[in-house]
Amino acid sequence: MSHHLDFPFPARRALMNLGTTIDMDLLRTAFEHVPADPYQRDFRFKSIARVIVDGHHIIRTAPGPLYQSTSTNPVHGGIRRNYTELGPDDLALLAPIILMFAALGRLTAEDEILVQLQRIRANAGDDGKTGLPVVEGFHNDAAALLGLLLVQRRHVVGGCSKIARDRAGTELVYEGVLEAGDFLLLDDREHFHNATPIRAVTGHDDPVRDVVIITTPAARPPEHAGGLWPGYGGS
Ligand SMILES: [Fe+2]
Repeated sequence: MSHHLDFPFPARRALMNLGTTIDMDLLRTAFEHVPADPYQRDFRFKSIARVIVDGHHIIRTAPGPLYQSTSTNPVHGGIRRNYTELGPDDLALLAPIILMFAALGRLTAEDEILVQLQRIRANAGDDGKTGLPVVEGFHNDAAALLGLLLVQRRHVVGGCSKIARDRAGTELVYEGVLEAGDFLLLDDREHFHNATPIRAVTGHDDPVRDVVIITTPAARPPEHAGGLWPGYGGS
Protein backbone atom coordinates (compact mmCIF):
# COMPACT_ATOMS: atom_id res chain seq x y z
CA MET A 1 0.00 0.00 0.00
CA SER A 2 0.97 3.60 -0.45
CA HIS A 3 1.40 4.86 3.09
CA HIS A 4 5.13 5.06 2.39
CA LEU A 5 4.62 7.62 -0.35
CA ASP A 6 6.94 10.53 -0.06
CA PHE A 7 5.60 13.26 -2.27
CA PRO A 8 8.23 14.35 -4.81
CA PHE A 9 7.55 18.09 -4.57
CA PRO A 10 7.94 20.15 -1.38
CA ALA A 11 4.55 21.84 -1.83
CA ARG A 12 2.96 18.37 -2.11
CA ARG A 13 1.32 19.46 -5.34
CA ALA A 14 2.50 20.23 -8.85
CA LEU A 15 1.09 21.46 -12.13
CA MET A 16 2.91 20.73 -15.37
CA ASN A 17 2.03 20.61 -19.04
CA LEU A 18 2.67 17.28 -20.75
CA GLY A 19 1.25 18.35 -24.09
CA THR A 20 4.60 18.13 -25.84
CA THR A 21 5.49 14.84 -24.11
CA ILE A 22 2.27 12.90 -24.57
CA ASP A 23 0.29 12.97 -27.81
CA MET A 24 -3.03 14.50 -26.73
CA ASP A 25 -4.56 14.02 -30.20
CA LEU A 26 -4.00 10.30 -29.90
CA LEU A 27 -5.25 10.18 -26.31
CA ARG A 28 -8.41 12.04 -27.34
CA THR A 29 -9.43 9.12 -29.54
CA ALA A 30 -9.78 6.89 -26.46
CA PHE A 31 -12.65 9.05 -25.19
CA GLU A 32 -14.84 8.69 -28.23
CA HIS A 33 -16.12 5.29 -27.11
CA VAL A 34 -16.16 5.70 -23.33
CA PRO A 35 -19.57 4.37 -22.21
CA ALA A 36 -22.17 6.29 -20.20
CA ASP A 37 -21.63 6.25 -16.44
CA PRO A 38 -24.58 4.22 -15.08
CA TYR A 39 -24.47 6.23 -11.83
CA GLN A 40 -24.51 9.65 -13.50
CA ARG A 41 -26.15 9.03 -16.84
CA ASP A 42 -27.14 12.60 -17.60
CA PHE A 43 -23.73 13.89 -18.51
CA ARG A 44 -20.92 11.58 -17.40
CA PHE A 45 -19.06 8.82 -19.27
CA LYS A 46 -16.48 6.62 -17.61
CA SER A 47 -14.33 3.55 -18.03
CA ILE A 48 -11.60 2.27 -15.76
CA ALA A 49 -8.61 0.00 -15.39
CA ARG A 50 -6.39 -0.98 -12.50
CA VAL A 51 -2.71 -1.67 -13.04
CA ILE A 52 0.62 -1.99 -11.36
CA VAL A 53 3.88 -0.75 -12.79
CA ASP A 54 6.70 -3.23 -12.43
CA GLY A 55 9.89 -1.73 -13.79
CA HIS A 56 8.94 -0.55 -17.26
CA HIS A 57 5.94 -2.84 -17.52
CA ILE A 58 2.32 -2.01 -16.97
CA ILE A 59 0.40 -5.03 -15.75
CA ARG A 60 -3.36 -4.99 -15.50
CA THR A 61 -4.81 -6.20 -12.20
CA ALA A 62 -8.16 -7.90 -11.68
CA PRO A 63 -11.33 -5.97 -12.49
CA GLY A 64 -13.54 -4.98 -9.59
CA PRO A 65 -15.91 -2.27 -8.44
CA LEU A 66 -14.96 1.21 -7.31
CA TYR A 67 -15.62 1.94 -3.68
CA GLN A 68 -15.41 5.11 -1.62
CA SER A 69 -16.68 5.58 1.93
CA THR A 70 -19.70 7.77 2.62
CA SER A 71 -17.46 10.26 4.41
CA THR A 72 -15.21 10.55 1.35
CA ASN A 73 -18.02 10.69 -1.19
CA PRO A 74 -21.43 11.84 0.07
CA VAL A 75 -23.00 11.24 -3.36
CA HIS A 76 -21.69 7.80 -4.36
CA GLY A 77 -19.98 6.68 -1.16
CA GLY A 78 -20.85 3.30 0.32
CA ILE A 79 -21.82 1.95 -3.11
CA ARG A 80 -19.87 -0.61 -5.09
CA ARG A 81 -19.83 0.93 -8.54
CA ASN A 82 -19.20 -1.29 -11.54
CA TYR A 83 -17.66 0.26 -14.63
CA THR A 84 -16.61 -0.99 -18.02
CA GLU A 85 -12.95 -1.90 -18.22
CA LEU A 86 -10.74 -0.02 -20.66
CA GLY A 87 -9.82 -2.11 -23.67
CA PRO A 88 -6.20 -3.09 -24.34
CA ASP A 89 -5.79 -0.50 -27.12
CA ASP A 90 -6.94 2.33 -24.89
CA LEU A 91 -4.78 1.12 -22.03
CA ALA A 92 -1.80 1.16 -24.41
CA LEU A 93 -2.57 4.81 -25.26
CA LEU A 94 -2.47 5.58 -21.54
CA ALA A 95 0.92 3.95 -20.98
CA PRO A 96 2.90 7.24 -21.03
CA ILE A 97 0.81 8.92 -18.35
CA ILE A 98 0.71 5.77 -16.22
CA LEU A 99 4.50 5.40 -16.37
CA MET A 100 4.99 9.07 -15.61
CA PHE A 101 2.61 8.92 -12.64
CA ALA A 102 4.42 5.87 -11.27
CA ALA A 103 7.81 7.51 -11.75
CA LEU A 104 6.84 10.83 -10.17
CA GLY A 105 5.20 9.05 -7.24
CA ARG A 106 8.12 6.63 -6.95
CA LEU A 107 5.60 3.80 -6.89
CA THR A 108 6.55 0.16 -6.62
CA ALA A 109 4.83 -2.94 -7.95
CA GLU A 110 2.99 -3.06 -4.61
CA ASP A 111 1.16 0.18 -5.38
CA GLU A 112 -1.98 -0.52 -7.33
CA ILE A 113 -3.06 2.32 -9.63
CA LEU A 114 -6.60 3.17 -10.71
CA VAL A 115 -6.93 4.84 -14.10
CA GLN A 116 -10.23 6.43 -15.06
CA LEU A 117 -11.20 7.99 -18.37
CA GLN A 118 -13.92 10.49 -17.63
CA ARG A 119 -15.86 12.52 -20.16
CA ILE A 120 -18.29 15.22 -19.02
CA ARG A 121 -20.75 16.36 -21.65
CA ALA A 122 -22.32 19.81 -21.36
CA ASN A 123 -25.82 18.70 -22.34
CA ALA A 124 -27.71 18.44 -19.03
CA GLY A 125 -29.23 20.77 -16.44
CA ASP A 126 -32.24 23.06 -16.84
CA ASP A 127 -30.72 24.72 -19.89
CA GLY A 128 -29.61 21.44 -21.50
CA LYS A 129 -26.15 22.98 -21.83
CA THR A 130 -24.52 22.15 -18.49
CA GLY A 131 -22.34 19.35 -17.15
CA LEU A 132 -20.73 18.86 -13.75
CA PRO A 133 -17.10 17.72 -13.67
CA VAL A 134 -17.54 17.25 -9.91
CA VAL A 135 -20.91 16.35 -8.37
CA GLU A 136 -19.95 16.28 -4.68
CA GLY A 137 -18.21 19.67 -4.23
CA PHE A 138 -14.78 19.92 -2.58
CA HIS A 139 -13.59 16.40 -1.83
CA ASN A 140 -10.61 14.13 -1.95
CA ASP A 141 -10.47 10.68 -3.50
CA ALA A 142 -9.27 8.90 -0.33
CA ALA A 143 -6.06 8.21 -2.23
CA ALA A 144 -2.45 8.99 -1.40
CA LEU A 145 -1.51 10.36 -4.79
CA LEU A 146 -3.89 11.80 -7.36
CA GLY A 147 -3.14 12.90 -10.90
CA LEU A 148 -5.51 14.67 -13.24
CA LEU A 149 -4.63 15.05 -16.91
CA LEU A 150 -6.81 17.39 -18.95
CA VAL A 151 -6.97 15.81 -22.39
CA GLN A 152 -9.57 17.92 -24.13
CA ARG A 153 -11.94 20.84 -23.70
CA ARG A 154 -14.16 21.05 -26.76
CA HIS A 155 -16.75 23.80 -27.22
CA VAL A 156 -17.15 24.45 -23.49
CA VAL A 157 -16.59 27.31 -21.09
CA GLY A 158 -16.20 27.00 -17.31
CA GLY A 159 -14.80 23.91 -15.66
CA CYS A 160 -12.47 25.92 -13.46
CA SER A 161 -10.39 23.64 -11.22
CA LYS A 162 -9.98 24.58 -7.58
CA ILE A 163 -7.61 23.03 -5.06
CA ALA A 164 -7.89 23.78 -1.36
CA ARG A 165 -6.20 22.63 1.78
CA ASP A 166 -9.50 22.29 3.64
CA ARG A 167 -12.73 20.47 2.85
CA ALA A 168 -14.74 23.70 2.99
CA GLY A 169 -12.65 25.04 0.13
CA THR A 170 -11.75 28.30 1.84
CA GLU A 171 -7.98 27.83 1.87
CA LEU A 172 -7.47 27.81 -1.90
CA VAL A 173 -4.02 26.99 -3.22
CA TYR A 174 -4.90 26.82 -6.92
CA GLU A 175 -7.69 28.08 -9.11
CA GLY A 176 -7.54 27.92 -12.88
CA VAL A 177 -8.88 26.43 -16.08
CA LEU A 178 -6.78 23.43 -17.10
CA GLU A 179 -6.01 23.25 -20.80
CA ALA A 180 -5.12 20.22 -22.92
CA GLY A 181 -1.95 18.58 -21.62
CA ASP A 182 -2.11 20.15 -18.16
CA PHE A 183 -1.34 17.58 -15.48
CA LEU A 184 -2.14 18.28 -11.86
CA LEU A 185 -0.47 16.03 -9.30
CA LEU A 186 -1.64 16.20 -5.71
CA ASP A 187 -0.93 14.61 -2.39
CA ASP A 188 -4.57 13.62 -1.99
CA ARG A 189 -4.21 13.34 1.78
CA GLU A 190 -3.54 17.06 2.06
CA HIS A 191 -5.72 18.58 -0.65
CA PHE A 192 -9.36 18.81 -1.64
CA HIS A 193 -10.37 19.34 -5.26
CA ASN A 194 -13.37 20.72 -7.06
CA ALA A 195 -14.33 22.11 -10.46
CA THR A 196 -17.07 24.47 -11.55
CA PRO A 197 -19.74 23.40 -14.06
CA ILE A 198 -19.02 23.44 -17.76
CA ARG A 199 -21.37 25.07 -20.23
CA ALA A 200 -21.76 24.49 -23.93
CA VAL A 201 -20.67 27.20 -26.33
CA THR A 202 -23.72 28.05 -28.40
CA GLY A 203 -23.73 26.75 -31.93
CA HIS A 204 -21.45 23.77 -31.41
CA ASP A 205 -22.33 20.11 -31.19
CA ASP A 206 -20.85 17.69 -28.72
CA PRO A 207 -19.39 19.98 -26.04
CA VAL A 208 -17.12 17.89 -23.79
CA ARG A 209 -14.39 17.99 -21.16
CA ASP A 210 -12.21 14.86 -21.11
CA VAL A 211 -9.85 13.97 -18.27
CA VAL A 212 -7.74 11.05 -17.12
CA ILE A 213 -7.92 10.58 -13.35
CA ILE A 214 -5.15 8.45 -11.93
CA THR A 215 -4.83 7.50 -8.26
CA THR A 216 -3.14 5.15 -5.88
CA PRO A 217 -4.36 3.22 -3.91
CA ALA A 218 -7.01 2.02 -6.33
CA ALA A 219 -10.42 2.50 -4.58
CA ARG A 220 -11.04 -1.18 -3.88
CA PRO A 221 -13.94 -2.10 -1.56
CA PRO A 222 -12.87 -2.55 2.10
CA GLU A 223 -12.65 -6.35 1.83
CA HIS A 224 -9.83 -5.88 -0.69
CA ALA A 225 -8.31 -2.65 0.58
CA GLY A 226 -5.50 -4.37 2.43
CA GLY A 227 -3.68 -5.40 -0.70
CA LEU A 228 -3.97 -6.33 -4.32
CA TRP A 229 -6.99 -8.24 -5.42
CA PRO A 230 -5.70 -11.75 -6.08
CA GLY A 231 -5.42 -13.01 -9.60
CA TYR A 232 -3.84 -10.07 -11.35
CA GLY A 233 -1.48 -10.69 -14.20
CA GLY A 234 -3.41 -10.30 -17.43
CA SER A 235 -3.25 -7.30 -19.68
FE1 LIG B 1 -12.15 13.47 -7.24
